Amino acid sequence: MIPSSFSASAEAIIRKSESHIAGGVVSLNRKTSPAIVFVKAEGARLFDAGGREYIDYHAAFAPHLLGHHHPEVTGSVMTALKCGWSLMGSGPTSWEAELAEALCEAVPGLERVQILNTGSEASNLAIRLARAATGREDVVVTLGGYNGWHDEVGRAVMPTLEQIGPRVTAGEYPLLPISAGIPASTQRRIHTVNYNDLESVEAVFKKHSIACLITEPVLQNIGVVLPKPGYLEGLRALCDRYGVVFVLDEVKTGFRSALGGYQSVSGVCPDLSLFGKAVANGYPLGVLGGKAKLMDLFASPDPDKRVLVAGTYNGHPVNVSAAIATLEILKRDGGKVYAELDALAARLQHGLEGELAALGVPVTVTRNASALCFYFMDHAPQDWHDILHHHDFELDRKVRLGLIGEGSYVFPAACKQLSVSAAHTRDDIDRTIAALSRVVKRLASKQ
Ligand SMILES: Cc1ncc(COP(=O)(O)O)c(C=O)c1O
Repeated sequence: MIPSSFSASAEAIIRKSESHIAGGVVSLNRKTSPAIVFVKAEGARLFDAGGREYIDYHAAFAPHLLGHHHPEVTGSVMTALKCGWSLMGSGPTSWEAELAEALCEAVPGLERVQILNTGSEASNLAIRLARAATGREDVVVTLGGYNGWHDEVGRAVMPTLEQIGPRVTAGEYPLLPISAGIPASTQRRIHTVNYNDLESVEAVFKKHSIACLITEPVLQNIGVVLPKPGYLEGLRALCDRYGVVFVLDEVKTGFRSALGGYQSVSGVCPDLSLFGKAVANGYPLGVLGGKAKLMDLFASPDPDKRVLVAGTYNGHPVNVSAAIATLEILKRDGGKVYAELDALAARLQHGLEGELAALGVPVTVTRNASALCFYFMDHAPQDWHDILHHHDFELDRKVRLGLIGEGSYVFPAACKQLSVSAAHTRDDIDRTIAALSRVVKRLASKQ
């Protein structure tokens, strides 16, 4: 049966959603203005309920590294279902074993993995594992980072300067919870420090009993904020010195930066790593993995030390077959796809820099492989405070709305990553740059 929404108007779909879905959308991170109702996606294209076509740079918050409905990924899912793979829910399966092996071969920090459904589950379990291993409870997170929606990492990602106050070095920020309903006792255990700020990490390590530090290697939920030389190495050294479990959240950087994740680019190996998004090219899969001595707590013979991992849908064959095919494609011909992605993303970066300069304000475009972001400031940001102090948020949003109007879909909120996929062509990129040129001319004429 074809759902009636395939032919319904955008207004009717929005009305139905608002009547029956609390909040109107199934993830509040997707609440946008304007609210565009998409009905179909293919390769690098999105199609809305009004029949408009867009070149997609949002990629659903980044998973679609190979583009929407990659034929081999879809084919792998169909084959898995046709040959009788189902959710057995009892004992090991050949497909989860195959994916686990492929992951451990691809990523330097993975000696063992667990296969989950989302990145949030992976960060939640990483913290449980770190607490069990260290006997400590507190967690250090970075300001401007996002590690999922659950209580244990629940700080606001993009607070205003009024909310967060001026930069604190060395020190930490009061927790600004991302949601109502996070218990005060949990909030007290979350310590927020600035990214690229080793002094603050050390100060917090000295003062509190920290189980783990969890951070994205590149902050990709406030655009693309890269680590300063020595920062990730410094985190590794501090975690070693203070006996803290170093958790690298590669949910966004993993498989997009390189087959081996950002850890293979930086050469800094964490104790635990989290993956999601691009690992299954748009299918819901999360991975927690890391050093055997930590991961083996899931199998500890001592029931008091054993850490529980469970989930009805863990290792579901639909997601797992998608991930197996995705990894195979990414590995093919010595990782040729990464060179192609890099060339496309560099083309977009240069185009953005060139066209946005015509606005007559400072512009910096940062990039990590196929992830990019533009900032209206004269240098690459080092942390969220830097962005709050220097970036023009209003102009950012105007540019985004202009691009959407011209048929290139970027998320309509400031400082959100643009993602290039292997389904984009040079022509797509050039069309977006030409669209941006028209947007800039219109905006410049109004200034
Ligand atoms: C860096 C990072 N970690 C964790 C998550 C949570 O992943 P999920 O949405 O699959 O729960 C996200 C989601 O955007 C993310 O960007």
